[in-house]
Amino acid sequence: MGGFFLSFEGIDGAGKTTQVEKLAQRLRSAGLNVVTVREPGGTILGEAVRNIVQDPVRTEIEPPAEACLYAAARAQLVAQVILPALKEDKIVVADRFADSTVAYQGAGRGLPEELLNALNAMVTRGLVPDLTVIIDVPVEEALARLRGTRSSDRMEMLEPAFFERVRERYLSLAARSGSRFAVVDGTKSPEEVADQIFALVRKGLVNCTTTSGDRITQSRG
Ligand SMILES: Nc1ncnc2c1ncn2[C@@H]1O[C@H](COP(=O)(O)OP(=O)(O)OP(=O)(O)O)[C@@H](O)[C@H]1O
Ligand SMILES: [Mg+2]
Repeated sequence: MGGFFLSFEGIDGAGKTTQVEKLAQRLRSAGLNVVTVREPGGTILGEAVRNIVQDPVRTEIEPPAEACLYAAARAQLVAQVILPALKEDKIVVADRFADSTVAYQGAGRGLPEELLNALNAMVTRGLVPDLTVIIDVPVEEALARLRGTRSSDRMEMLEPAFFERVRERYLSLAARSGSRFAVVDGTKSPEEVADQIFALVRKGLVNCTTTSGDRITQSRG
């Protein structure tokens, strides 16, 4: 399959959405065809799941139910949006993907990683990102960024220790599974983070022998 599939990961407030937007803008101005998606979301079912899991006054959701809700949203997104875009050789930039399940429902909620890996394999149909950028920020800094924003109600329902576990799992995934992951220091300014990510993506696109790679190499000289 052609195209290029990039996912952004990191704890709440790390700067994922900020960087997805910056990267998409930069790639588009280089003439590339970019599709951005967010999880959960991007499909009718996915947006419905988003409303359920992000409602701070929701009835309590059991961890296995939470894992299945995110997985259901992911199954729809892969089948209806991501795979069709990759077939058309587009660059897909995802604001969270399967690794979020391993970090949040695995390390955060304590579900067994092997079960979550199996669930992910089913709903992604084996699709794995070409590159996963983990934006790493200390928990205190990420929480401070979110104070006073829409996300803060939901955040305050969880202990900082929850996010410490999530952060550590992301870093251990990167250490264990090597080449797919790049860890970026998210404490730098948004522009510095964006420059670092762009360099990584450019390298990834060049390595993946698609027309996209050729075009970005040419356009950036
Ligand atoms: N490098 C940065 N330095 C300082 N503040 C930042 C940086 N990047 C983003 N922010 C700010 O931090 C807040 C969270 O950023 P953003 O929404 O991009 O994070 P996120 O990882 O998408 O969070 P969530 O998981 O909750 O969606 C925003 O107010 C954003 O403007
Ligand atoms: Mg976000």
